[in-house]
Amino acid sequence: MDTMNIAIITTSDTRDLTSDEAGHALAALITARGWQVASHEVVPDATTNIKAALLKACGETKADVVLTCGGTGFSPRDVTPEATQLVAQRQAPGIAEAIRAGSMQITPRAMLSRGVSVIRANSLIINLPGSQKAATECFEIIADQLQHAVDMMAGQGHD
Ligand code: MTE
Repeated sequence: MDTMNIAIITTSDTRDLTSDEAGHALAALITARGWQVASHEVVPDATTNIKAALLKACGETKADVVLTCGGTGFSPRDVTPEATQLVAQRQAPGIAEAIRAGSMQITPRAMLSRGVSVIRANSLIINLPGSQKAATECFEIIADQLQHAVDMMAGQGHD
């Protein structure tokens, strides 16, 4: 079993790679589990930029999992779920459902995240909310299921 490769794409109009605290916190959680950060970038909250970053992470980078961070709320610039659907080939709604259900145990504001989870080629794309607190909480809710998800995408999941 290869080490999981996880790409991080933070969507923000104000952060850069240095100030991307949520992205760095996710990277620390990924490496703490023995997985690899395949790439980490910050793109503006704009559909074309997010779509291009997703295509690169799923294509050239061949990430097993792509975590987006931010842009899932209700403000006009929150377009990450829409950009994610532009590259989706299959839906994986259970992951987004689990994130919201688990997060509702922490804060009722969890219902304000519109995040989706989808599959493109052999990559699983998961939208996480953007604050460091929210992103890391949501990551921990789903992290234990990622390896099995990736194995299944490679046709190896069921023992
Ligand atoms: N989920 C968890 N686990 N913890 C949180 O603090 N914050 C919520 C929600 N999901 C939160 C959470 C809030 S306040 C918002 S507005 C939405 O995520 C959307 O966040 P985003 O616009 O940064 O993506």
